[in-house]
Amino acid sequence: MNSHVKSIQWGKRIVRTIELYPTLGSTNQFASTFIKNGGRSGTVLWALEQTEGKGRLGRKWDSDPSSLTFSLVWQCPDNIAPQNLTLTVGLGLVESLKVLVPKVKVKWPNDLWVEERKLGGILTEAVRYQGKLWIILGVGLNVNSAPGQGASPRISLKEATNCSWSRLGVLDLALVGVERGFELSAGGQDLSRLFRKHGNFLDRNIMVFWGGHTFQAKAKDVLPDGRLLIQDAQGERALMPEEISVRFDACF
Ligand code: BTN
Repeated sequence: MNSHVKSIQWGKRIVRTIELYPTLGSTNQFASTFIKNGGRSGTVLWALEQTEGKGRLGRKWDSDPSSLTFSLVWQCPDNIAPQNLTLTVGLGLVESLKVLVPKVKVKWPNDLWVEERKLGGILTEAVRYQGKLWIILGVGLNVNSAPGQGASPRISLKEATNCSWSRLGVLDLALVGVERGFELSAGGQDLSRLFRKHGNFLDRNIMVFWGGHTFQAKAKDVLPDGRLLIQDAQGERALMPEEISVRFDACF
């Protein structure tokens, strides 16, 4: 570990240590190098400033020095990546952040929204190194500002609560949510019921962007493996999160 890096023991089940970096390009990108340099499973790489954040589907993630940007590296014990981890971590984050923002919801598959605006996002990536499968779970949250109003409207925790927040305090709360997400992903939970409770999209009309096509559908359910069940003119279909993007549709 670089001697300028500060390290905090967090010491719960999945997350063990937080390493604090003044500036990184992308914590997810850095995590990949960290793994290849022998970094430990259960480490959270927290950048006080992230300059080239990555979003889902090749988009960029904007942040500023009042944002929370971190990635957890985790080695899958049995080489089987939990397919639904992004979704269950979204649920876990909602459960923990609700104490601050009662209206926070999961927008399938990887966003946290407050009413019609985005509070944060999750980017999960998998890396294979020396025969082992590692998960990089990146989380970005708008804490005291909401940069990058481009693609979807944004909101910060500060705006949602009328109060400024310490990023360390929000990180601590978020990590409780991340651990809860791992617990939910281990199975035995009724994810459909949890999405009905904590999601903002079931039973709504949506626009689906899929492999260059766009169509209207109704979001019906989230299946235990994380697929979204939709109904459109062709009947019911289950869609994989990796392939598609959805927007709410006000027009029909
Ligand atoms: C999205 O909404 O598309 C996902 C955004 C994920 C952003 C986080 S910020 C920390 C981590 N490092 C990155 O480069 N991206 C994720």
